[in-house]
Amino acid sequence: MIDLHCHILPGVDDGAKTEQEALDMARAAYSEGITHIVATPHHKNGVYENNKASIEMQVTLLNELFERKGVPVTVLPGQENRLHGDMLEGLEKGDVLTMNDSGVYLFVEFPTNHVPRYAAQLFYDLQLAGVVPVIVHPERNNEIFDHPDVLYHLINNGALSQVTAASLTGRFGKKIRKLAFDLIEHGLAHFVASDAHNTTTRAFHLREAYKEIQHAFGSGTRYLFEENAELLINGQTVNRDQPTRIREKKFLGLF
Ligand SMILES: [Fe+2]
Repeated sequence: MIDLHCHILPGVDDGAKTEQEALDMARAAYSEGITHIVATPHHKNGVYENNKASIEMQVTLLNELFERKGVPVTVLPGQENRLHGDMLEGLEKGDVLTMNDSGVYLFVEFPTNHVPRYAAQLFYDLQLAGVVPVIVHPERNNEIFDHPDVLYHLINNGALSQVTAASLTGRFGKKIRKLAFDLIEHGLAHFVASDAHNTTTRAFHLREAYKEIQHAFGSGTRYLFEENAELLINGQTVNRDQPTRIREKKFLGLF
């Protein structure tokens, strides 16, 4: 399996703190069948900054470490970008990094509480430049939680999204789990990834999440999701259905 979202680079954000922790994470990942991990450290989230050059250097060092220690996991370069106004400029300057440096897919995180209004215009501009924004864990965003139509419009206009494995397995609660499944059912999510930060409180759960997808939607959907992860790191066109709206429950509890 390929894990597209992981804070495995040691000492650069709130993920692995040391090389030992990164090794522990890689071993845990491998034990559940993950052979490739895209390292996606936070960038410009108000706390951490990790630009393209430093990520690529750290990825090289980590792959060397894993090889020395005999851990058969390959790390690829990525970045979790908090939405910011100068992303396009960042791409040109070499500050912002697309997934696996393919030049196509860009991981974008919204602030937890809302979706900034300028996201739609920025996504449009990114796509004009040939870059496809991938919204990470939309099911954990408060505005999307209350108004999934906000996500629908962004997806309908060409963005993609990635749900977190632990959301599907229920570790963030029943409501987030339900929304994550609703997003898949309505063609509003295209990838599943761990967003692992460690081996304890924020672990991988990716194998379990794929099982959940298979159980709910069948092996065909599971296969498409697994294939999408591979297509993404190769910068190829991913599988996507026409998205549909999730009905907003305004009268919750009446029926
Ligand atoms: Fe993350």
